[in-house]
Amino acid sequence: MSTSSDTQKQMYEAYASSYTIFLKNWQANRQRALEMLEKHFKSSLSEQIVSVLSVGPGPGEFDKQFIHLLQQNISEGQPLKYVVVEPNHIHRQIFEATMQSANVSKVHFEMHPMTIEDFQTNEKFDCIHYTHSIYHMPGQERRLILESLDMLKDTGVLLITLDTEEAVIFKLITKYAEVVGNDQYWQEGSSQMMESNKLREIIDDIGLSYKFETYPEYLDVSACFEQNSEEGKVLMNFLFQANLRDASPELNQQLLSLVDEVAIEQNGRKMLYLPAGTFVMPKQ
Ligand SMILES: C[S@@+](CC[C@H](N)C(=O)[O-])C[C@H]1O[C@@H](n2cnc3c(N)ncnc32)[C@H](O)[C@@H]1O
Repeated sequence: MSTSSDTQKQMYEAYASSYTIFLKNWQANRQRALEMLEKHFKSSLSEQIVSVLSVGPGPGEFDKQFIHLLQQNISEGQPLKYVVVEPNHIHRQIFEATMQSANVSKVHFEMHPMTIEDFQTNEKFDCIHYTHSIYHMPGQERRLILESLDMLKDTGVLLITLDTEEAVIFKLITKYAEVVGNDQYWQEGSSQMMESNKLREIIDDIGLSYKFETYPEYLDVSACFEQNSEEGKVLMNFLFQANLRDASPELNQQLLSLVDEVAIEQNGRKMLYLPAGTFVMPKQ
C-alpha cells in the first residue's frame, strides 16, 4: 500500500525530472539578479562571517553563480556560510553534485530537508533569496517576506525573482483552468499563480522600499510540436502545471494550439516569452 509520504516522494521525483527538461530549454538570465546583488553588496557586506539563505534552490545553478560572486566580493579567508531549504530530495542531491563540481570547497553548506514554511532559526543572514520558488507557497508570501526580514542582519537584503505578469505561461494556465473547470484546477483558495505585479502589491502594502528590474527570458517549446516527443510531453505538463498523460488526444491538440498561439518564432524554433523580474529589498 502506498503511503502519503511515498506519494509525496513520487511527486518530488516527477517534478525534479520535469524541471531538468525545463532547465535544458530555458534561456534564463541569471546575470541580472546577480548584478543587482553585487551593487547592493558593494556598500554593505559584513566583515565577519557572510551567510546566505537560499529558499528552494533546486539543482543550484543560480546558487553556484551567486557563490562565485560572493567569493569575488569578500576578503581572502573570510568565512562563507550557505544555508539551503529544499524539500525535494532529488533537488538536494543534484544541488550537492552541482556544488561538488563547482570548486566551492571553502563554503560551509547547511542543508535543511523541509519547506520554508517549517523552517526556523535564530541565525541572521546577509542575504535571503527566493529564486523562482515563491510560486510554490501560495497564500504565504506576505508572512514569508515578513519572517525573512526578521532573519536578516541590519545590513541584509531579501531578493525575490519571479516571472512577470507578461509571461505567457500565465495565459496558458488560465486558459487550461477554464477548459477543465476552475474549481477542479485551483486549490487552497488560490485563484492564480504568483507573478511580479501581485507580489509588488504585497510588498507595497507592507511598505518596504525596494529596487525592481525586469528582463526577458525565453523557453524553447519546439519539442512540444514534435510527434511522440517525450521531452515535448514533459514540457506540456510543465506549461499547464498538470499531468496530461491521460488527457484525450482532443484536449492535447487543443492545448497545443494554445501554445502555438502564444509562441514566437526565433531561428526556426518556437519560443515562449517568459520575462522575469527581481526585487531587491534591503532590510533598512
Ligand atoms: C522552479 S524551482 C526553482 C529552482 C531554482 N531556484 C532555479 O531558479 O532554478 C522551485 C524550487 O522550489 C522548491 N520548493 C517548492 N516548495 C517549496 C517550499 N515550500 N519551501 C522551499 N522550497 C520549495 C522546489 O522543490 C524547487 O526546487
